[in-house]
Amino acid sequence: ARVLIVASEAIPLIKTGGLADVITALARALRAEGIDASVMIPAYPAAVARAGKLREAARIDDLPGGPGTLLTGVIPDTDVPVVMLHNSSFERRSANPYVDTDGNEFADNAVSFAALAHAAVAICAGETTLPVPNVVHANDWHAGLIPTLLKLKGVSNVASLLTIHNLAFQGNYAMAIAQSIGIPEELLHADGLEFWGRLSYLKGGLLHADRISTVSQSYAEEILTPRFGHGMEGILNARREDLRAIPNGVDTNFWNPTADSLIARTFERDDMRGKSACKRELQQLFGLPHEPFAPLLAIGSRITHQKMADVALRALPNVLEKFPRAQVIILGCGERSYEDGFLGLAEAFPGRVAAHIGYDERRAHALHAGADMLLHGTRFEPFGLTPLYSMRYGTVPIASRVGGMIDSIVDAGADGPLAPGARGILFDGEEPEDMVRAIARAFELYARPVDWHAMQREAMSADFSWEGPARRYISVYSEISPAFSTRET
Ligand code: ADP
Ligand code: GLC
Repeated sequence: ARVLIVASEAIPLIKTGGLADVITALARALRAEGIDASVMIPAYPAAVARAGKLREAARIDDLPGGPGTLLTGVIPDTDVPVVMLHNSSFERRSANPYVDTDGNEFADNAVSFAALAHAAVAICAGETTLPVPNVVHANDWHAGLIPTLLKLKGVSNVASLLTIHNLAFQGNYAMAIAQSIGIPEELLHADGLEFWGRLSYLKGGLLHADRISTVSQSYAEEILTPRFGHGMEGILNARREDLRAIPNGVDTNFWNPTADSLIARTFERDDMRGKSACKRELQQLFGLPHEPFAPLLAIGSRITHQKMADVALRALPNVLEKFPRAQVIILGCGERSYEDGFLGLAEAFPGRVAAHIGYDERRAHALHAGADMLLHGTRFEPFGLTPLYSMRYGTVPIASRVGGMIDSIVDAGADGPLAPGARGILFDGEEPEDMVRAIARAFELYARPVDWHAMQREAMSADFSWEGPARRYISVYSEISPAFSTRET
């Protein structure tokens, strides 16, 4: 059985967030289960450079925005075949795949990602020399047009699954582009792809995919409500029967304290000495004094409104004043004003706060391995990979009680004795005080070594492997394609 997984990112070729981790790890895990899984992404120059040997496999002339070429190869360090769509618009994206150096969306995003969808559908329709999949697995709005285009083209032998990694990003564009991206007039109404006067790629996917999935059980329930549905709750409720929840896993090839080549010293649950070396290295890397017993709190994520950067900026000064020994480390990039805020915080608390603005894989590993706690406040979180990474390294997450984190983090309890099985701290609310209270609770537990080590052990023992999730995807594929249903899943 064959599946083509279409997305805008896949590590190590191109990554701005968790989606990239998930795409490659899922494809690998599916292949380990005997599924012929391949990945399709745009041929961003950076991705092409990292891909190594590529072959020109097909040319497609009639794509939105002009002709394109399908390049094929293998994702480095994996056995996963990759198809990359090369065209003039993706070719120009030298740094970030979605925004220019001023942070503005590329003007041709609509056309470029429509081209990606059209190219995938050309493969499904057997119009190229590439193998036709049994299922096309579209991810997020970037691939959102695929189910609609399959229907328009009358391709009935390829089933579609749309996975929502983040409902906040929808690919909504001016209706006027419809013709140029091959969407006919009769689909431009409220029961079609129209969404508040715009044409929505994601809505098209939600309407026409054979199945829809998202990346945690809690998020699957949340998105049926106005608070988390981003306006799509109506259509999601209408398609409730076809909505599945499959959690992500952790790629232990990359995130493994016993074998991580990017950290100062490896360690394991029963011998945590290496973690002290990692803490030392992290402090050094960020220019903070080496304080082995100071509680070291880290933030490592996109620095955005979703990730409550604004709340952290107001909460942290309070925390630093209340707890004179605490240190704070920030790694991330995102919205400029918040980035500046964190740099300002570091200036205001020299020797106690350090911020690195930028995307840095090595620092991310050093951070997850070396910190005592990971602060991950978010207003919504479909899954939340970073708290899982931190847990694997015995770094205790302090996270918002939303989405995937409700499912993956067992809360220590607001006060008093440690709750059984606790492996982190969850907090409600979006006010600085809510965050300060959660951090104070973490510091209180940190000062109780028996409880703290119990939490670290629980965190490190949790099973977040990809095997279970991969089997659940196969079972969803088998709901829509007979090619998968002969397998035991
Ligand atoms: P999201 O996908 O919403 O950003 P996740 O927590 O699921 O959230 O995934 C984020 C991914 O991006 C993780 O792999 C994390 O390590 C990585 N990441 C985010 N910011 C940075 C950064 N500045 N440097 C390195 N890695 C980062
Ligand atoms: C999105 C979500 C994040 C999730 C990731 C992978 O970027 O914001 O919560 O972990 O996708 O599914």
